[in-house]
Amino acid sequence: MSNMPSRVELCPLTLADQDEFCELVRASVELHMPWMQLPGTAEDFQGWMRRFDDGSNLGFVIRVRETGEAAGTVNINSIIRGRYQGASLGYAAFAPSAGRGYMTEGLTIALQYAFDDLRLHRLEANIQPANKASLAVVQRLGFRYEGLSPAYLYIDGAWRDHERWSISAPSAWTPDPSLPAV
Ligand SMILES: CC(C)(COP(=O)(O)OP(=O)(O)OC[C@H]1O[C@@H](n2cnc3c(N)ncnc32)[C@H](O)[C@@H]1OP(=O)(O)O)[C@@H](O)C(=O)NCCC(=O)NCCS
Repeated sequence: MSNMPSRVELCPLTLADQDEFCELVRASVELHMPWMQLPGTAEDFQGWMRRFDDGSNLGFVIRVRETGEAAGTVNINSIIRGRYQGASLGYAAFAPSAGRGYMTEGLTIALQYAFDDLRLHRLEANIQPANKASLAVVQRLGFRYEGLSPAYLYIDGAWRDHERWSISAPSAWTPDPSLPAV
């Protein structure tokens, strides 16, 4: 799929996206429950946006090029530099356009951005074993299964076990300048 022109583009999430984002989140509650909780009100959205202030988390909207429609959202979270050069992916589709491959295409672009532009070395996705749609996405993207992390993330009122999946930068990649030389 990476050789085909993408139907979607990655746009940084901004305060101007508030009303559209919240409306789509409210329309997607059934799709997101119990895996993901996103802001559905102006107040929650503004709180959510603060996580992007220090640059350690980046937020994007996946938009369908032809229509501008927001198909979903992806975050590159917990970016750690130094010897790690890694981050963790968070993502969700919006219900009106879910199940059409837009998330797979948008996440493909997010991986390229993380490796080529951010010069990260590794991305993780942590997924509950029963979340079949999300497991299918990372498998399509070429992530590998690393193991089960017990009680890994606090989701929907409890510490949930998660499968840890990861993908590394292509072998031709050279390290970010922030990697310590010694
Ligand atoms: C996980 C989630 C983002 C997947 O979204 P999605 O829309 O199913 O993902 P894709 O864009 O890859 O679409 C895949 C579907 O589109 C179909 N499809 C159609 N055209 C396609 C194309 N060109 N390429 C790939 N898939 C295509 C696939 O067959 C698949 O359908 P299927 O599930 O019936 O087999 C979504 O289910 C979601 O938001 N879940 C709740 C939040 C969540 O769990 N987030 C992750 C937490 S770890």
